[in-house]
Amino acid sequence: MIHLTVNGQPHEMEVEADTPLLWAIRDNLGLTGTKFGCGIGACGACTVLLDGEAVRSCTLLASDATGKAITTIEGLSPDHSHPLQQAWIAEQVPQCGYCQSGQIMAAAALLHANPHPSDAEIDAAMTNICRCGAYGRIRAAIHRVGGGT
Ligand code: FES
Ligand code: FES
Repeated sequence: MIHLTVNGQPHEMEVEADTPLLWAIRDNLGLTGTKFGCGIGACGACTVLLDGEAVRSCTLLASDATGKAITTIEGLSPDHSHPLQQAWIAEQVPQCGYCQSGQIMAAAALLHANPHPSDAEIDAAMTNICRCGAYGRIRAAIHRVGGGT
């Protein structure tokens, strides 16, 4: 039995010792906004926040997230009103959409650490992969929130 705090809500769940946080979020809690892409920490589709920092939940044991504040895409806002969600809509960022919740969570961590990132800082921080190549629109949406150009 482990205890996880996800989007401000405490949860108890039975998981195997080697269960990644991604599957505790998706299978145990039914929060399917966090996606599985590669399973090896390479693509970032599974990105969530752990105490405000972006982590790849496919390679983090669920048990290692106990005692930390976990935020998923569902926890950013109850009604899509988070500034990043609004910027994503305004810039029409998604194409297929599969990578996008991970991209938004990575952007949230970036803007928390650096509220006004430059192009170079965005490129350095945003290591999530987008197979549709939406990188330019992702950068524009981050600037829309961060006030850069
Ligand atoms: S699914 Fe976690 S990094 Fe790709
Ligand atoms: S929008 Fe399709 S993978 Fe990023």
